[in-house]
Amino acid sequence: MTITFEIQRRKSAQDRPYIQRITLETEDTTVAEALDIMNDGELADDPIQWECSCKQKKCGACAMLINGKPRLACDARLSEFPKGVVELAPLKKFPTVCDLVVDRSMMYDDLKTLGAWLEDEAVCNGTGIAYDASRCLQCGCCLEVCPNFYAGGEFFGAAALAPASRLISEADKTDGKRLQTAYNEHFYNGCGKSLSCKNICPAGIDTERLLVRSNAVAVWKREKRK
Ligand code: SF4
Ligand code: SF4
Ligand code: FES
Repeated sequence: MTITFEIQRRKSAQDRPYIQRITLETEDTTVAEALDIMNDGELADDPIQWECSCKQKKCGACAMLINGKPRLACDARLSEFPKGVVELAPLKKFPTVCDLVVDRSMMYDDLKTLGAWLEDEAVCNGTGIAYDASRCLQCGCCLEVCPNFYAGGEFFGAAALAPASRLISEADKTDGKRLQTAYNEHFYNGCGKSLSCKNICPAGIDTERLLVRSNAVAVWKREKRK
């Protein structure tokens, strides 16, 4: 198949972005593999900078905008784009470092502020809300589509909802109270319930389910461990 890539590039955050067009003759493969092919071939002297680790949908590092939608490059196959054009750009809610690389440290800082850990031992039994939430890759795709999330704000978005939901459902009394307070402050109070994040998660996390369950525990003080 013939695919034309239109890739947003810049050497550093200070440079103006520009679009580089490259046409690739290839078998049906993933966007991640296509980037490797281009970097090893035509672009060997000036390779596209992008992040990856597992190339198996397990680390979240390769999240980027693919034809305007936040996705994992290792999970997007070229045959999904029958018009033969694939536009690649960095996620926009994070500062760009260069080309397709963004700085997601603020997302990890939010988890530190949230206190996303337990002081006491807890066991996740592999089912229910805690297991579902534990699949979060911290890729940031849900933040990209969230109308209420912006960098540096008090609302941390679904990337914080997932770990908070996992811990709230397993926490004991002391940790539970601390996490419920943090959940209210950094998620519940800022979430507009638009559910733009509902069908975007590459890990297939049902954010609506997490939201409903966590609200029940943290806000309405009802059910737990479901
Ligand atoms: S429900 Fe809407 S506001 Fe809340 S985290 Fe999802 S996208 Fe953001
Ligand atoms: S909830 Fe899904 S989309 Fe959001 S950071 Fe976690 S894995 Fe990514
Ligand atoms: S490289 Fe790990 S999810 Fe794509």
